[in-house]
Amino acid sequence: MGKKTASGGKVKKETVKPLLAAARIQKRIREMGRQIRKDFPGEPIVLVGVLKGAVPFLADLARQIPGEVTFDFIAVSSYGKDTKSSGQVKLNKDLDSSIEGKTVVVVEDILDTGLTLQYLLRILQQRRPKHLRIAVLLDKVERRIANVHADYVGFVIPNEFVVGFGLDYAERYRNLPQVGILQLPTPE
Ligand code: IMP
Repeated sequence: MGKKTASGGKVKKETVKPLLAAARIQKRIREMGRQIRKDFPGEPIVLVGVLKGAVPFLADLARQIPGEVTFDFIAVSSYGKDTKSSGQVKLNKDLDSSIEGKTVVVVEDILDTGLTLQYLLRILQQRRPKHLRIAVLLDKVERRIANVHADYVGFVIPNEFVVGFGLDYAERYRNLPQVGILQLPTPE
């Protein structure tokens, strides 16, 4: 017997069930951008995007923060087996510039177990930024293992595998302007 969806139906082909519409995401990002500027009035802000999932969110968020904003990017990957539970993270690409004394907002697509951000925060904190904050588009609160809190959260979502707006399944779906729940075909 194949797996069934929450509604009890069988899924014939890979589908994406709508969760967050594009307009809703844009409205929330506008609010987040204004809030970030309100918290750091008149200060240059460095947005640090975690490749690749944060790219669409960072691009839209940056355009909603008035005043001086620069970007930098960092890339990480989990390595070895059982990395999700061991929290082993590898730095694949470091920042281009120093963040010492800067106001930094780390931008991530989703906060899941929190292990990736926990690792990133540890290494970024060692570089002595003036402020270090976290902005995530999505927060899967139920899955948290590490003690990490985001300062700016777009949406709290249920424990489902989601795609779109930067989030991928085997590198696909990152370009969707909305976020949806991925439903894989039910095995025969
Ligand atoms: P964490 O270290 O468990 O918080 O993992 C964060 C990373 O896992 C994210 O940056 C995503 O790349 C990936 N991830 C977690 N949940 C999902 C999901 O529902 N869809 C796609 N990628 C996800």
